[in-house]
Amino acid sequence: MCFLSIFAFSGQALIPETNIVFLELNKMKITFILNDQVIQTEQSGAGTLLDFIRYEANLRGTKIGCREGDCGACTVLSGTLQQGKIFYQSLTSCLTPLANAHGKHIVTVEGFNLPGLNKVQEAMVECSGTQCGFCTPGFVVSLGGYALQDTHPSQDCAISAIDGNICRCTGYKSIERAACIVQDSLEQQDSARPLDWLVEHHFIPAWFRDIPQRLEALNIPETAFPKTSGRLFVGGGTDLYVQKPDALPDLPINYIFGKLSKAPIESIGNTIHIQGGATATDLMNAPVFLEAFPRWYEYFKLVSSTPIRNIGTVAGNLVNASPIGDITAMLLALNARILLQQENGEERILPLRQFYKAYKTLDKAAGEWIAEVHVDLQKDTNTLFHFEKVCKRTYLDIASVNTAISLKTKGNLLLEAHVSAGGVAPVPLYLDKTSRYLEGKTIQTEMVLEAIEVLQSEIHPISDARGSAAYKRTLARQLFMGHFLTLFPETIQMEALV
Ligand SMILES: Cc1cc2nc3c(=O)[nH]c(=O)nc-3n(C[C@H](O)[C@H](O)[C@H](O)COP(=O)(O)OP(=O)(O)OC[C@H]3O[C@@H](n4cnc5c(N)ncnc54)[C@H](O)[C@@H]3O)c2cc1C
Ligand code: FES
Ligand code: FES
Repeated sequence: MCFLSIFAFSGQALIPETNIVFLELNKMKITFILNDQVIQTEQSGAGTLLDFIRYEANLRGTKIGCREGDCGACTVLSGTLQQGKIFYQSLTSCLTPLANAHGKHIVTVEGFNLPGLNKVQEAMVECSGTQCGFCTPGFVVSLGGYALQDTHPSQDCAISAIDGNICRCTGYKSIERAACIVQDSLEQQDSARPLDWLVEHHFIPAWFRDIPQRLEALNIPETAFPKTSGRLFVGGGTDLYVQKPDALPDLPINYIFGKLSKAPIESIGNTIHIQGGATATDLMNAPVFLEAFPRWYEYFKLVSSTPIRNIGTVAGNLVNASPIGDITAMLLALNARILLQQENGEERILPLRQFYKAYKTLDKAAGEWIAEVHVDLQKDTNTLFHFEKVCKRTYLDIASVNTAISLKTKGNLLLEAHVSAGGVAPVPLYLDKTSRYLEGKTIQTEMVLEAIEVLQSEIHPISDARGSAAYKRTLARQLFMGHFLTLFPETIQMEALV
């Protein structure tokens, strides 16, 4: 039974906002602000935020398209309070457990309603960015979320904000033009008073200003990282809610999304500590990786979409054990180690490459979770990294084959090498023979061609929906060449390789 309490902000509250009782996690009253209303519900946390929004809160502007995170029709914003300020991110509500809304400010398309059209809606109309209108709420929310961000660097960034939204009928150029109008407008924003500016310029309703104080006043306690045995860990839900959405409401679950006890990514000495619950967005924007590897951000543009990256976690990618997991391929090539913890406090460190035993079979005890991922990165050595991925379409698609490489070099010599490949075996593959072959070699065309022979000997692709085995072997070869062509353009040239 649903104990849904909605208190209109301007209306009379039935229970004071500060008087909300919290129960233990599995029976907790999930509490959050939905647009301008406080929600308190005893609904199962395993149901989707989308179903809650549409069928409990009766807000039907949020649409159901694919229920698989692909179309963006269900996009909403989730605002997290940090030191008195709210940070908004878009997410796909169809894959988000209701429990993950706990303590957040959730904004649906209705939350952007003004007496007339808001600035984003106006831009969509001006550019004929809508036809049947089914996708439009998702686009409006994504662009509204972009407006709510701290910085608005470029038109490309505005267009990136809608990379998780699909439209079947309008044509993307009109919608991109609308995004550019929004961008032009945001470039005038008064950075000293951003929220007031957005209100004054008809991006958002005035009640947005009060949300940080209202969320703070709710005094929602941080739920500790749950350590209850026999329960299924759910991070962002972007794999689980695609794979078994119907089974989840009946399972005992540990909701671990956002329960970070440390910064998502931090450097300790020469080691980068990535929290298991860090999101792909955290990793994409981590200064330590951006400084070390110039194309880091571009690699992550190839991983899912903005709203999926905002919720999909690093540990989720590793434990899902998809042979084509992109973050997995990158971390294998970075020679990462994982820190596994248990409820009784025991912990162990395992090289990631030893984690995968067979298809979806892991070196992981029941109840063990990935707390952290460690990557060594010495600033004084010349470490190079590159990632390649081929899919049926460039963006928002999973790989046919992916591969990553990291190399430590001294002059023309390869001191250390780690290569991974996905889509060429039942598990995400650390290419041990290829990596060992490369070490100690001088960078030259002949060496790359020989390494390809070694690589071909340790991959075992099969034919499936993403391509024939022969095609995947060809991709593995070409993408491996791509590593060297990109990292050593002076020494390795395409003409010589082919
Ligand atoms: C539309 C769409 C596009 C996608 N595109 C890509 C893509 O381009 N590349 C790519 O690699 N992936 C892609 N994915 C897959 C997915 O987004 C990633 O694998 C993501 O990182 C999963 O993280 P999550 O937190 O959502 O996992 P969840 O679904 O929450 O969990 C996945 C698995 O990990 C377990 N788990 C989660 N956290 C922990 C932990 N800390 N310790 C132990 N076990 C844990 C869960 O029990 C479950 O078995 C896509 C998914 C969707 C829906
Ligand atoms: S309904 Fe398509 S992404 Fe959620
Ligand atoms: S306007 Fe019809 S799907 Fe986009």
